[in-house]
Amino acid sequence: MRVRRLRAREFRTYARLDVALGAGLTVVHGRNGAGKTNLLEALYFGCTGRSCRTSNEREVVRFGAQATHIDLDLEAADGVEHTLAVGFQPGEPKRLKADGAEVERLIDVQARPLVSVFLPDRLDLVKGPPALRRGHLDQVIAAAWPARAETRRVYGQAVAQRNALLARIRTGRASRASLPAWDAEVARHGVVLRDHRAEACDLLAEPFARAAGDLGLAGDATLRYRPRTQAADADAFAAELAERVDGDLERGFTGHGPHRDEIVLQRDGRELRAYGSQGEQRLGLLSLLLAEREALADARGAVPLLLLDDVMSELDPVRRGKLAARLDGPGQSVITTTDLAHVPGAAAASVCRLAVRDGAALADQAEAA
Ligand SMILES: Nc1ncnc2c1ncn2[C@@H]1O[C@H](COP(=O)(O)OP(=O)(O)O)[C@@H](O)[C@H]1O
Ligand SMILES: [Mg+2]
Repeated sequence: MRVRRLRAREFRTYARLDVALGAGLTVVHGRNGAGKTNLLEALYFGCTGRSCRTSNEREVVRFGAQATHIDLDLEAADGVEHTLAVGFQPGEPKRLKADGAEVERLIDVQARPLVSVFLPDRLDLVKGPPALRRGHLDQVIAAAWPARAETRRVYGQAVAQRNALLARIRTGRASRASLPAWDAEVARHGVVLRDHRAEACDLLAEPFARAAGDLGLAGDATLRYRPRTQAADADAFAAELAERVDGDLERGFTGHGPHRDEIVLQRDGRELRAYGSQGEQRLGLLSLLLAEREALADARGAVPLLLLDDVMSELDPVRRGKLAARLDGPGQSVITTTDLAHVPGAAAASVCRLAVRDGAALADQAEAA
């Protein structure tokens, strides 16, 4: 599934935006502040119905405008055309459409490109708390195996219910007798969630190490799952919960289980999170996204759309070349840069170049010449 055309109205700097994307690589170039990241964000917003940049979505509506609209024209691998549309007015429910029909959520839409996005300020994924990596891994799992998204949800509900019960026991409004039922429920979904995560991390480990090697992250890069529980089955996990109940009652919440797991990214045996330089963390993040793209391509038979914001500026020429070589493969990618010369191969006839300036994005004339 690829995006052929992106149209936006009143999105960030763009009163109107209408661009065709390349089948392979599209390079968005322009000076700082020109609107390059805004264009990537518009694309992401159109694919997912969400911003990749902010949780305060009213920011995406152009200053002075009431509402924003994004339309995407898509083409499936079999040549069939599809459309996605997102309409957003702050304070109102979003209006999402797939092939002209209203839908609740875009993630449920089959005819939709999967997207991976690299933004420099997503470095939190590498250096932030484990919860961010867990949430991210769970999203990758949901994208690779849509039916598995449910496990994450029901596990979260079971933990929330158990926590609520712990709170009632603490204040004398409930007895411990009702705990084993919730231990069993948490354990039943918890072992499945853990096994899904273990499988996903197994799939990501090799491509992660390879991408990190390619991009020049010095030393051995590893991605490893560190689950809280090693329990062989749900009963064993429920027993672990029962053993820890005094601590849980003291804390007021469930302190054991997959909601405390970690996904460990290391370089030469040391966690990137704690010991990596900014540059190493960036390479770690980029390697993680490239690994996910490979894993998703294998699992779903379609290469996700890759959005890379301003990555080249921090890479040396050799690494730029290696990254460009990866983008030259199958699948669609969009990369932003202030300087076209930083993207090896940007001048090739197969590459789509979009010049961004003054709230407009135009296909480079060079292509026609
Ligand atoms: N809602 C908005 N309406 C209009 N302009 C906006 C809005 N949000 C951000 N901007 C402007 O977008 C510009 C930054 O665009 P951006 O895409 O981040 O630039 P870059 O090309 O450096 O990636 C800034 O000048 C900022 O003021
Ligand atoms: Mg930018």
